[in-house]
Amino acid sequence: METRLVFPLVMLLGILLKSNLVLPTPVSESDHSVLEQASVFETGKFHPVTSDVRTPSSCLPPRPLLIVRPEEQGTYPVILFHHGTACWNSWYTDVLKFISSHGYIVVAPQLYRWILPWPSPQDELDRAAKVANWLPSGLRCALPENIEGDLQNLALAGHSRGGYIAFALALGLADVALEVNFSALIGVDPVAGRSKKNQLEPKILHDESCSFNISIPVAIIGTGLGNTSGIPCAPDGVSHTEFFNECRPPCSHFVTTDYGHMDVLDDNIGLDGWVARAACKGSGWGVSRDPMRKTVGGIFVAFLEAFFKGNHKEYNNILQKPNHFAPATLDPDPIPNKSEGTSCSGLSAMSMPAFAF
Ligand SMILES: *[C@@H]1O[C@H](CO)[C@@H](O)[C@H](O)[C@H]1NC(C)=O
Ligand SMILES: *[C@@H]1O[C@H](CO)[C@@H](O)[C@H](O)[C@H]1NC(C)=O
Ligand SMILES: *[C@@H]1O[C@H](CO)[C@@H](O)[C@H](O)[C@H]1NC(C)=O
Ligand SMILES: *[C@@H]1O[C@H](CO)[C@@H](O)[C@H](O)[C@H]1NC(C)=O
Repeated sequence: METRLVFPLVMLLGILLKSNLVLPTPVSESDHSVLEQASVFETGKFHPVTSDVRTPSSCLPPRPLLIVRPEEQGTYPVILFHHGTACWNSWYTDVLKFISSHGYIVVAPQLYRWILPWPSPQDELDRAAKVANWLPSGLRCALPENIEGDLQNLALAGHSRGGYIAFALALGLADVALEVNFSALIGVDPVAGRSKKNQLEPKILHDESCSFNISIPVAIIGTGLGNTSGIPCAPDGVSHTEFFNECRPPCSHFVTTDYGHMDVLDDNIGLDGWVARAACKGSGWGVSRDPMRKTVGGIFVAFLEAFFKGNHKEYNNILQKPNHFAPATLDPDPIPNKSEGTSCSGLSAMSMPAFAF
């Protein structure tokens, strides 16, 4: 009852004060020559360029795409990034540009439109699988000639319900057979339903340590405020903590203590964005979300540098001393991880396949 009243008021307030509440994000460094030594939490040395690829276009993507890639010629690993419930892919532009500035191509499909009705999770998953299968032929078409996507280093990622989509795809639950291989998986405050008993179908969480039959490296980034307030946007039992419980090594679990479910989004996300954002508890009014985006982006980069390029240094540094390096507070310190080689049977009594129900 209470939230029914508070919710529209908060939205109204947000809308009325919108222009005053948006804090300008500091302009990224203009002198890129000094950034050769940049850490993963600083803007990288490449200049990101964004483009929209529409469905009725010569490259025929199965869904509209936002592509963010370096301007500089080269071959770059590719990240397929799935948006959250009722979010536009463009709301992630800041964090995706940050990641791309470190030498990555990000492909972010728009799996459905903002307005209702939304597709079923299975439909959404099948759409995501079609986009993944489009990459080998389509990405070449959608990029300039001197820029290439390295599909041998293809990561799967997503935020919120898009995090669920990424894990479900990795688990092979799409009805569309996958024609690409993923090599890493990242969930940003992933959510698999409204509660343990009310999960998205196909169900992925089985309340069992290491149940995910996923052999690629996994990183999970949760938010400290995602499970709080009237409407928990990332409820306990179906959110990051449970995803970490069910992932297999190598897998690590970061929590940005002071930020909420929607704080990874851009500052300027328009009216519909404010409505979506007002539904979830987040950083306080006037608190910059820039540290959150840089922390999330930096973890993407450190994790992929480790598992795609074999450069584990920054990733291990973050695991061991998160708050020494990351701009947002990470809890706990050090970061829990199921490191490579850890035996899952040692972590739980599980011996039977988790998918036999
Ligand atoms: C995916 O991996 C399998 C098994 O390693 C391999 O046979 C197949 O060729 C790979 N597919 C692509 C598109 O790289
Ligand atoms: C929210 O999740 C955190 C872990 O991120 C946990 O410590 C805390 O108890 C949870 N809070 C509530 C209200 O469930
Ligand atoms: C976590 O990662 C660090 C650095 O790679 C490693 O030294 C440590 O053993 C790992 N911890 C666990 C519990 O696996
Ligand atoms: C887990 O995945 C592997 C490789 O994809 C497959 O061979 C195996 O049958 C799966 N196990 C279960 C229990 O589904």
